[in-house]
Amino acid sequence: MSKDYLVFGAPNIGDEEINAVVSTLKSGWIGTGPRVSEFENSFKDYVGGKYAVAVSSCTSALHLSMIAIGLKSGDEVIVPAMTFAATANAVIHAGGTPIFADVHIDSMVLTESEIRRKITNKTKAIIPVHFAGYPCDLDMIFKIADEFGLAVIQDCAHAIETEFKGKKVGSYPGISCFSFYVTKNITCSEGGMIITDSEEIANKLKVLALHGMSKDAWKRFSDSGYKHYDVVVSGFKYNMTDIQASLGLVQLNKIELFYQKRKLIWDYYQTELASLPVKTPMMVEDQLGKHALHLFPILIESNKNSLTRDKVINFLHERNIGTGVHYTSLHLHSVFKSKYNLESIDFPNSKYISDRTLSLPLSSKMTVDDAKFVADNLKELF
Ligand SMILES: Cc1ncc(COP(=O)(O)O)c(C=O)c1O
Repeated sequence: MSKDYLVFGAPNIGDEEINAVVSTLKSGWIGTGPRVSEFENSFKDYVGGKYAVAVSSCTSALHLSMIAIGLKSGDEVIVPAMTFAATANAVIHAGGTPIFADVHIDSMVLTESEIRRKITNKTKAIIPVHFAGYPCDLDMIFKIADEFGLAVIQDCAHAIETEFKGKKVGSYPGISCFSFYVTKNITCSEGGMIITDSEEIANKLKVLALHGMSKDAWKRFSDSGYKHYDVVVSGFKYNMTDIQASLGLVQLNKIELFYQKRKLIWDYYQTELASLPVKTPMMVEDQLGKHALHLFPILIESNKNSLTRDKVINFLHERNIGTGVHYTSLHLHSVFKSKYNLESIDFPNSKYISDRTLSLPLSSKMTVDDAKFVADNLKELF
C-alpha cells in the first residue's frame, strides 16, 4: 500500500514558484499589472501566436471568444460531446446554441463527417477540443471553416504543447483558449490565455475582460498618476492577477521539463498496460503532430472481463490511487439532455467512451515508481 494518496493531476510547485509569488506579494502590485503582460508575451512566444490576452480561466476565455466573434441568439456552434461542460456553457452564456457532435472512437476528437453532418445555415463557429492533448485535424477543420465561412475557436485546455503538422496548435489562425487550472500541464492555480492572430479581436477581448473599460485601464493605478477611463461596452471581470501570472511564468519555464517527466509515466503505462484488457490512449504519429500528454484515459472494455469502470475506480481508490473521468459525455448531463432533447443513439462513440473511461494519475510530480504502483495494482485487479 502506498503511504500517501496518489492525487490524479497533482500540481508541481517548487521553491521557484513560491519565491516568485512571495516576490509579487512584496512588490505591492498584486492585481493585473506588469507580470501579466510578461506572461502574455512569454506564452505567446511559446505557442508562436500573435496576440495574447490573459484571463481568469479557460472558461472565461471561451465565453469572451464567443462574444468577440459576435455570436447572437439563434447562432449555432459545433462542439464535441466528449468534452468538459465549459466548452458548451460558453456558447450558451453568449446566447448561442451548442450543437453536439460525436467524436472518433480512438482519438476522441471531432471528425469531418460529424462536423459536416451538424452544419446548418445557422452555424457560426466550430470549437474543436484537442482531447487529452491529441491534436485535432486542423487542416480539415480550417478547410470546412473556409467553405462555410465559420469561425474556429480552439479549446486548447489540454493542449499547451500540442502540435499539428509541426506547428503548435495555438499558432493556427482564429482564436485559441488555454487553461492553467490546477490539474493542467502548467498552472497558475486558476487562469486562462487567449491567443489570436487578429489585433482587432485581441483589443476587443482586452476591453471585454475588464468591465468593458477602455484599453490599458489597469494603468490608472500606476505611478504615472491617475488616468480617467471610459466604459465602452458592458464587459466582465475576467482579468488575471500578477500573483497568478508570476506562478505561470515560472511554470512556463519548466514546461519542457514537465513534459519529459510526464512522458516517462505515459510510456511506462503504455508498455505495462499492453497485456491488460484495457484500451490505452491513441498515440500520435510523428508526421501528424505532437500529443501534449495531458491525460492518460483508459477504457475498461467490460465485454472482455466482468469489471466495470466504476469498480476499477473504487478498487484504485481503496489502494490510495486517485483517478478522474474525462468525461461523462455532455449529451448525458441533464441540463444539455433536457434542453436540446439529446439521445445516446446520436452519439454512439461518446456514449461508449463515457461508460468505460477513467483517467490514471498523470503529472510531472509523479515518479516512475508511482506509475509502477498504479500498473501493479491494475495487474493484480485484472
Ligand atoms: C476541455 C476543457 N475545456 C475547458 C475547460 C475549462 O478550463 P478552466 O478550468 O480553466 O476554466 C476545461 C477544464 O478542465 C477543459 O478540460
